[in-house]
Amino acid sequence: MPAAGGLIFGGRSGEHEVSLRSAQSVLNALDPAKYAVTQMVITQEGLWVSGEEWNAGKAKREAASAASLPASIGALLPLLGGLDVIFPVLHGSFGEDGALQGLLEMADLPYVGCGVLGSAVGMDKGLFKDVMLANHIPVLETLVVSRRQVETQIETLLPRAEALAPYPLFVKPANLGSSVGISKCRSRSDLVEGLLDAARYDRRILIERGLIAPREIEVSVLGNDDPVASIPGEVLPSREFYSYESKYVDGSSGLLIPAPLPAALVEQVQTFAVQAFKAIDAAGLARVDFLLDKETGALYLNEVNTMPGFTEISMYPKLWAASGLSYPALLDRLIELALERKADRDRTQRKYEV
Ligand SMILES: Nc1ncnc2c1ncn2[C@@H]1O[C@H](COP(=O)(O)OP(=O)(O)O)[C@@H](O)[C@H]1O
Ligand SMILES: [Mg+2]
Repeated sequence: MPAAGGLIFGGRSGEHEVSLRSAQSVLNALDPAKYAVTQMVITQEGLWVSGEEWNAGKAKREAASAASLPASIGALLPLLGGLDVIFPVLHGSFGEDGALQGLLEMADLPYVGCGVLGSAVGMDKGLFKDVMLANHIPVLETLVVSRRQVETQIETLLPRAEALAPYPLFVKPANLGSSVGISKCRSRSDLVEGLLDAARYDRRILIERGLIAPREIEVSVLGNDDPVASIPGEVLPSREFYSYESKYVDGSSGLLIPAPLPAALVEQVQTFAVQAFKAIDAAGLARVDFLLDKETGALYLNEVNTMPGFTEISMYPKLWAASGLSYPALLDRLIELALERKADRDRTQRKYEV
């Protein structure tokens, strides 16, 4: 009998459309002899709708959107009860940040990918950097400030930011992806503008030393307690930096697989990637992204993505394909890891027996 699998996709973040594409690729590749798939879709507004409702088209979705958000979740929760394993193919806030993972933990269900802690730390670029520093993994100098500080004391922030490094400085919302809200600032006025813009998207904001046209190296990590790294790949952004437009609009950013790197650097990238994965207590999968300074040759870990883009042409699965693991075999492995992780969770004693 095929296993009952649940695929949750869509979501409230700016990466809704990317999630739809990732989920379609997963659906196409799951072997129907092995998995009977129930689809659950989270609309851009956060409403949960069944796969049937979603596939029936827009009119039905609009009808569903008359429902309140908690009621829509409540209506779909019983579906979760009949499932053996869940694959949340969701990127960004509410999907990749531990929120949904918390719900699945409460329901005691096995699911693909990182748990609450790994997802949350992986999502917050500020806290993530602190964890990297504590583990002696190189990251770019960063200052984390709050939206409140930007709103009430920007004058005191500016000199502190400028003490980090000479311009350009990068400003980023701490918990977003797809380059939304990120600015490259070349002057104080750029910096003010960048901070105000980032403050629209998050309560926590990073100011970071900027590199001039760094090389962008990415590596895929797979596993639970003994994670392994793929060969690294390289992104060739179509614009000045790997912006939202460069990622999704131009369609012309290139991927180089494998990344042309000397063997020692490949090993360094893989070692840091596995260390970072373990340091945040990641599970299942993560793509770990680096910036390589062309001028000095210095390597910096930039971020992890605990639910990276997952279409067949996305970097994460392509790196595994190039490392000898096909897309369908990768899905099987991720589901196996989800079940393994759940079994390990179940070994934890919850009650203290005197
Ligand atoms: N400190 C930096 N120096 C130079 N370029 C950067 C820096 N930080 C980010 N970038 C550029 O911005 C892009 C997006 O930043 P990133 O931190 O990866 O956020 P996201 O989660 O949105 O992908 C990177 O892929 C890179 O092109
Ligand atoms: Mg990135």
